[in-house]
Amino acid sequence: MASRVERDAAADYRRLHAAYQQSLRYAEDVRRLYHQLQRAICQSLLGLANALEAKDQYTRGHSERVSALSRRLAAALGLAPAVVDVVAQAGLLHDIGKIGVPEAILRKPGPLSPQEWTVMRAHPVIGAQIVAPFEFFERASRVIRHHHERWDGSGYPDGLIGEDIPLEARIVAVADVFDALTSGRSYRPALGFDAACALLKQDAGHTLDGSVVAALLGVLELEGR
Ligand SMILES: [Fe+2]
Repeated sequence: MASRVERDAAADYRRLHAAYQQSLRYAEDVRRLYHQLQRAICQSLLGLANALEAKDQYTRGHSERVSALSRRLAAALGLAPAVVDVVAQAGLLHDIGKIGVPEAILRKPGPLSPQEWTVMRAHPVIGAQIVAPFEFFERASRVIRHHHERWDGSGYPDGLIGEDIPLEARIVAVADVFDALTSGRSYRPALGFDAACALLKQDAGHTLDGSVVAALLGVLELEGR
């Protein structure tokens, strides 16, 4: 028969175990709420980005297509699932900084003046600043900031070269260019996939990361497009 000391120890253990289980449930609740909050903020930002795109028939749906293609490229390049998610999120929000660019510049039918270009080229930095206050967008914020950098250093805002550009940003850049080429603009019709791929091949190793372009060609081939 168990002694009183043993019975007390068993009761203490049960209480401790119950407290531990309770704290696990709390942690799970916090984790779930955190993800809900993250999704809600992402959806709100996406709503803003979509509202901006929806005004222009030529850019409607662009962010969602760039996000979907960026996700496929990141997965094809073997990135970890959590990083694939960051790339997709950054693809969705990559142009959110255009909210800070006047419509007269965004929708100007003709070429932009040097001053207008200066304003337009601020959108990656503005976009990164918009999402930066949210801790869970920290990596996406970096991708947004660098999505117009070019492999040869001719991009903006920081003129980064080659692998100094975060890989996630190089992925979004390729998806962005591909979607822009295959969507119509006020000044030119949409290019077919073959013509767009030919242009990307020309840019591979110059303005675009050749390995990401190769991944895109592989993904399109796999998908039979
Ligand atoms: Fe952009």
